[in-house]
This record gives sequence, structure tokens and C-alpha cells, in this order.
Amino acid sequence: MTAPGPGGHLLVTGGAGFIGSCFVRDVLGRRDGTRITVLDKLTYAGNRANLGEVEADAGMASRFAFVRGDIADPAAVAPLVAAADAIVNFAAESHVDRSILEPAAFLRTGVDGVHVLLEALRAETERALRGERATAPRLLQVSTDEVYGSIEAGHAREADALAPRSPYAAAKAAGELLVRAYHATYGLDVVITRGSNTYGPFHHPEKLIPLFVTNALDDLPLPLYGDGLQRRDWLYVADHAGAIAHVLAHGATGGTYNIPGSAELTNRDLVARLLALLDKPWSLVRSVADRPGHDRRYAMDGRLLAALGWTNRVGLDEGLALTVAWYRDHEPWWRAARGGDWDAYYARQYAERLATSSVAEPAS
Ligand code: NAD
Ligand code: DAU
Repeated sequence: MTAPGPGGHLLVTGGAGFIGSCFVRDVLGRRDGTRITVLDKLTYAGNRANLGEVEADAGMASRFAFVRGDIADPAAVAPLVAAADAIVNFAAESHVDRSILEPAAFLRTGVDGVHVLLEALRAETERALRGERATAPRLLQVSTDEVYGSIEAGHAREADALAPRSPYAAAKAAGELLVRAYHATYGLDVVITRGSNTYGPFHHPEKLIPLFVTNALDDLPLPLYGDGLQRRDWLYVADHAGAIAHVLAHGATGGTYNIPGSAELTNRDLVARLLALLDKPWSLVRSVADRPGHDRRYAMDGRLLAALGWTNRVGLDEGLALTVAWYRDHEPWWRAARGGDWDAYYARQYAERLATSSVAEPAS
């Protein structure tokens, strides 16, 4: 089994989303001959404009192809996997709150979709064993720290039990378990990454940081769930994408790698930092009804990834400054991202919460 090196052909599923598009931009930006085909369904979260920089650059565009399609569709997936040296699967429904409102799509992509990818990979692995292709493709499954559930103390290690607590996290855990089972049963070359809370440019405005930045720019209320003392470990998007590329190239087959962030803090403290960067008052922050089953804390141990030779490059101060500046400079992007079902979703998620909200306790 050979990990794909420079000059290979990658199939990047979900490559028009937040982290996937960063991965595509950064890998093609290395200009080392690597080719990328993106397969993306373009759900409300997928956005072709996220790949605009690639398509506008002749050098990158000549090594890039885009296919609109569903990872749960075997007819779309099989020929693309057959043509790839490796697959990086970012495709997922990714928002916990939407998974609480309507879980079905999370299972379709996170379980059925992963199963379809694995069956295509199995067919290609069998072809390699018969000498019909030089090597079998490798699959990197992009997973999440949420599969561990809420970590009240200490840091989760890769061998710890999975204890997901939302439909989103359960779908991600199920996808991972299928990947592991196909490795054990059919000898597929797979690696899994579990990334921390990621932030940066091109993040859909439904998530905490972009929601609060864009609402604050419009002087709209910022709906902070519960007491706002939940803790997250924030990872800049280019570090998440870089760690995935590193694991794809160097990870041991069958291995799982945590990708921790660079700074653990409470949501309240995070929001205070955002408001300082935006020069907006704390009075915008509203304490609203909590997310059901809200995980109190995520925290992962990063020793395996460090031993593989990866360290994050962007600290929280720098990353938040870059992110706030990007949203200030890209208003047409985030206003367009608030199209489609945005108003209906926003009303369903927040109308009652905001109507019954109170002024939030200030940060420490
Ligand atoms: P995102 O919602 O921004 O992007 C998901 C992309 O997948 C979109 O382009 C969407 O159109 C596409 N997609 C969805 N269903 C599809 C399907 N059936 N077939 C093909 N394409 C489909 O998500 P993101 O934040 O970029 O997350 C990417 C991956 O990283 C996900 O697997 C997520 O679980 C994981 N992850 C995210 C974070 C985070 O903080 N954002 C952290 C750890 C892991
Ligand atoms: O930890 C990795 C995960 O991070 C990824 O797997 C998910 O795809 C990604 O969406 C993210 O999940 P979270 O639920 O942690 O992120 P979110 O931005 O939705 O929320 C971050 C924290 O902020 C969480 O404690 C809930 C809180 N929050 C969120 C929103 C949207 C609020 O207080 N108010 C809000 O309106």
C-alpha cells in the first residue's frame, strides 16, 4: 500500500464546502503536479464560489475538475474512484443544530454515502490485487472530535471509546466504524482523522463564529446557547486542511489521528474576543435556550499526530483576526450564503429562542 505523493490524482468529495475547498486550494496551490477532481452535491452548504480562486488560475484550473453528484450514488462514484490514486472524503451534513431538527440527511450521506465510497474502493482494491491497476487507492475519512462525546476532563485519545451524543456525531461515528470494518475485513487502505472545531474564511454563516461575526456586522442579536460556558478547542482551517494532507501522505494504514486545535476556551470568552475585533458591544449577546444534548467540552490529545510530524501554524489571535477581516471584506459571499432556506432555518432555530432571551452574562 503506497500513500499518494505529489503528482497523484485525488478525488475530493465535499470539496466545495468550508474545509474541503481550503484543502483543494492549498494542495493545488503547491503546484507540484497533483490533480484534483471534486465530487460535490452542492447542498445548501456547498458553494462553487469557494473554488473560484482555483478555477480563475490557469495553472490550477488545468489540474482541476468539478463533478456535481452525490457520494451515495454508486454510478457517480465508481468511475471517479477508479480514476483516483486517493480519495479524501469531506462530504457530510455538518451542522449539529440541523441534525437535531432533521437527522435523515445526516444518515444518508454519513452512512449510506460512506458505504458507497467503500464499495467502490473495495472494487478498485480487488482490481489492484488482480494486477489490473498498479496500486489500490487510499481513502482518508474526515471525521470529528464529536465522536468522543463530551469530555468533562482530560483529553480524548484515539483508542478511547466512541460516545456520540447528537445525530450528527452518531452519523460521523457510524461512518468511521464502517471505514474501520472495511479495513479489517477487506484490507482496504484507509486512514481516519478526527478534527477539532474549525474556523476561518468560507465558513458557512450557520456556525458559531461566522454567525456571530456576520450578525454583529449587521448589529443583530448574537444567540448564545445556555450559560455560554461550553468549551471548544479552535483549529484554523488551513491547519486542519494541512494536517489532513499530512496524514494522507504519512499516516499508517488503518490508523486514526486526532487533529486538536490551538486554543481551548469557553464560548463566552470566544465571543468577547470577536466583539473586541469587531468593535461591537457585549449588549448584542443574548442568552437563549440551550441546544438539546449540548456537549459541554471537546478536547483531544494530539501526540500521535505530532509524532507523525505535524504541528499547527496559526494561533487563535492571528486566526480570529484573519477570519474577521475576511468576513468584513467578503460581504457578497456571506450574504449569498444566507440564501436558499436560510430565513426559514433561522426562524425555526432562533425565533422563539430570541423572543424569550435575556441579556447574557459578560465574559470573564
Ligand atoms: P460543509 O458543510 O461546509 O461542507 C460539506 C460539503 O459536502 C458541502 O460542499 C456539501 O455540498 C457536500 N456534501 C454534502 N452531502 C454530500 C453528498 N451526499 N455527496 C457529495 N457532497 C456532499 O462542512 P465542513 O465544515 O467543510 O466539514 C467537512 C468535513 O469535516 C465534514 O465531514 C465534517 O464532519 C468534518 N469536520 C468538520 C469540522 C468543523 O468544525 N467544520 C470539524 C471536524 C470535522
Ligand atoms: O468539533 C468539531 C465540530 O465542530 C464539527 O464536527 C462540526 O461539523 C462543526 O459544526 C462544529 O460543531 P459545534 O457544534 O461545536 O459548532 P457550532 O459552531 O455549531 O457551535 C460551537 C459552539 O457554539 C457550541 O458550543 C454551540 C454554540 N453555539 C452555536 C451556535 C450556532 C451558540 O451558543 N449559539 C449558536 O447560535
